[in-house]
Amino acid sequence: MQIVTGNGAKIPAIGLGTWTLRDDAATRLVAGALQAGYRHIDTATSYENEAAVGEGLRVSGVPRDQIFLTTKVWPPDLAAGDLQRSVEGSLKRLGVDQVDLALIHWPSTTVPLTESIEALNEVRTRGLAHNIGVSNFTVALVEAAVALSEHPLACNQVEHHPFLNQDRVMAACRKHGLAFVSYCPLARGTELFAQDPVSEAAARHGKTPAQVVLRWHVQQDGVVAIPRSSHPDRIRENLEVFDFALDAGEVAAIDALRSRGLRICDFEFSPEWDRD
Ligand SMILES: NC(=O)c1ccc[n+]([C@@H]2O[C@H](COP(=O)([O-])OP(=O)(O)OC[C@H]3O[C@@H](n4cnc5c(N)ncnc54)[C@H](OP(=O)(O)O)[C@@H]3O)[C@@H](O)[C@H]2O)c1
Repeated sequence: MQIVTGNGAKIPAIGLGTWTLRDDAATRLVAGALQAGYRHIDTATSYENEAAVGEGLRVSGVPRDQIFLTTKVWPPDLAAGDLQRSVEGSLKRLGVDQVDLALIHWPSTTVPLTESIEALNEVRTRGLAHNIGVSNFTVALVEAAVALSEHPLACNQVEHHPFLNQDRVMAACRKHGLAFVSYCPLARGTELFAQDPVSEAAARHGKTPAQVVLRWHVQQDGVVAIPRSSHPDRIRENLEVFDFALDAGEVAAIDALRSRGLRICDFEFSPEWDRD
């Protein structure tokens, strides 16, 4: 498995996203993914599946120290004290002593960043999380968080797929040594898979459109992708992206799909996104 380094954190380049996966199905899918070779699982308090995900870790039989486990703190819990309690609750539900990465899920619209970053640093100092990082942070927020944080930030997890230009925030991550973790890496599927540059590359390489898109992610310096699927066969398929490479022309053709400008996760509490 390819490893991406984010200020010292060693993050497997493909992880399993678990948003919408629940209960026994989440346990089965996480266990199956780990048995199939995944070593990186992404959850969050807001996904309400941490207990099921933790059970999947144990059912898999894969030693805990071989798994990179991420969880996230939801915005209402970003004040001092609340943030630490949120991570403690995650550990209890997951049934682990420590997560490998704890993230601020979205920047707060009410709690000062200084306060949240200080609380996140305490989570790291106390060993509740081996690494800390952020999610949905813009260039300005990355700059501010890096300046405020005592411990290095391992990553910024943001929406990223061929329909969205994220060059500016990716450059900010590289500048400060953060890994760039692509969420919604498949832009949720069907429409992206039907685009000519994707389907044609898939035919040329004898791969599926999903594998071409995931290869496009992990071929980029410092980029991790966390696709989700509720089908074990697709989960396995999404890991088989390290035995071929897209050439420069194929990458350029897929890059050009960014003109669509599609942002899937955009809410009233979103920050002012970076524009081209
Ligand atoms: N930090 C944040 O704010 C944030 C926000 C959104 C997501 N995330 C994280 O990122 C993860 C991934 O994002 P996402 O779940 O929104 O979207 P995604 O991974 O881009 O797309 C998931 C969709 O693609 C389909 N799919 C997956 N693999 C496929 C394959 N090989 N062939 C055909 N279809 C396939 C799945 O359908 P089936 O289930 O039917 O296979 C599902 O509908 C989430 O699960 C979550 O962990 C984080």
